[in-house]
Amino acid sequence: TTGYITLDDGYSNTGSCQSDVTFIDGEKGILRYRGYPIEQIAQNSSFIEAAYLVIFGKLCNQQERDDFADLLSENAPLHQSMLKHFDGYGSNGQPMAILSAMVNSLTAYDPQVMHPEDENDLVYAAASLISKVRTIAAASHKTTIGEPIIYPRKDLKYVENFLHMMFSTPYSEYEPTPEVVRALNMFLVLHADHEQNCSTSTVRMVASSKANMFASASAGISALWGRLHGGANVAVIEMLQKIHDEGVDPSVFMNEVKDKESGRKLMGFGHRVYKNFDPRATILKDAAFDMLEKMNIEDPLLDVALKLEEVALQDDYFVERKLYPNVDFYSGIILRAIGIPLDMFTVMFAIGRMPGWIANWKEVHEDPKARIYRPRQVYQGEVDKLWVPRDQR
Ligand code: SDX
Repeated sequence: TTGYITLDDGYSNTGSCQSDVTFIDGEKGILRYRGYPIEQIAQNSSFIEAAYLVIFGKLCNQQERDDFADLLSENAPLHQSMLKHFDGYGSNGQPMAILSAMVNSLTAYDPQVMHPEDENDLVYAAASLISKVRTIAAASHKTTIGEPIIYPRKDLKYVENFLHMMFSTPYSEYEPTPEVVRALNMFLVLHADHEQNCSTSTVRMVASSKANMFASASAGISALWGRLHGGANVAVIEMLQKIHDEGVDPSVFMNEVKDKESGRKLMGFGHRVYKNFDPRATILKDAAFDMLEKMNIEDPLLDVALKLEEVALQDDYFVERKLYPNVDFYSGIILRAIGIPLDMFTVMFAIGRMPGWIANWKEVHEDPKARIYRPRQVYQGEVDKLWVPRDQR
């Protein structure tokens, strides 16, 4: 029940390791952060409280929460000269590319992160990364839409400050509704960690060479970008939008998905571990309904998603392969209702996953027995070849 799979040192080529952070039971659709069921955390915790739990392994009391929140506020601004980097991207910058580059560049302004000496250094680095990833994300959005970068405010909480930096302008202050704040907190909580997924394994791999926390998180951002992983939340909306705009019958679309030749996948469906409902998808689906109703928003893409899910759950192709909605199938509906642009969807996933990456980096960093990960391979190439001079080739 401790949720780890024993194996030899570090990473072997089956890609497993020992960890205390997150437990998943794919058959039963169970997800727990540090032993607490995701349903209880999503219902009761803000993202900052969930981040504290994932990183430090305990529910924070009021003083610990206030101290952590203060540290995040203090570390929200970027170094003034770092803002100049954004000018180089202009409107062509892909927010995920900017995020990965800028997170890595943070070490230029926080050299002590390179060689953390004690727990205080680690807490500072974690708080700085969780706080600044939000500032960088909002700044990358402003850069791509050609608006001035908006500075964080000291008086705002984590999610409110992010929304301020995303949607305020020098001429107007953005005031989020309670529904938007609650929905975005829940979205980030549900993405906070997820065992040894592709990007978290990447973070552990990079951490095992003794690379610093920021460099490891930057690698995690790059791995998350792929359409089969964090990039799926963009691919889901593109799929739903295409079906809606072209008036494609969901059953016809499903037949294309089942035709292997088409190469189509039902984005937002399937999971390597969950062979039952992804508990996050269940929570996000309910939250999407709740939010649209409270905000009096009609999103036709939700209707398309519901129809696709209905068809899939009755189709042997999906049932036999145990393909169910995953975290990405409904999350985009919530981001759309908040007003987050599509090119920022995977960035939102990265902001949410930052605590999990930090917790996993810390596990490798603090493990006295940790060795550099060095998966092996099955060599399938030619052997014993003889080199020949160029005029004889
Ligand atoms: C995330 O690992 C994590 O925890 C990730 C994540 C996290 O929080 O970090 O949960 C976040 O990445 C969620 C997944 C987002 N990706 C997508 O929604 C993309 C669509 N899904 C698929 O690409 C796929 O389901 C994966 C990538 C999620 C899982 O890949 P697997 O485990 O390698 O699945 P598979 O390819 O072995 O599938 C088994 C069968 C195959 O058919 P057969 O060869 O047996 O005939 O199911 C089919 C697959 O072709 N299949 C799908 C499908 N997913 C699997 N067919 C159609 N549509 C799909 N989505």
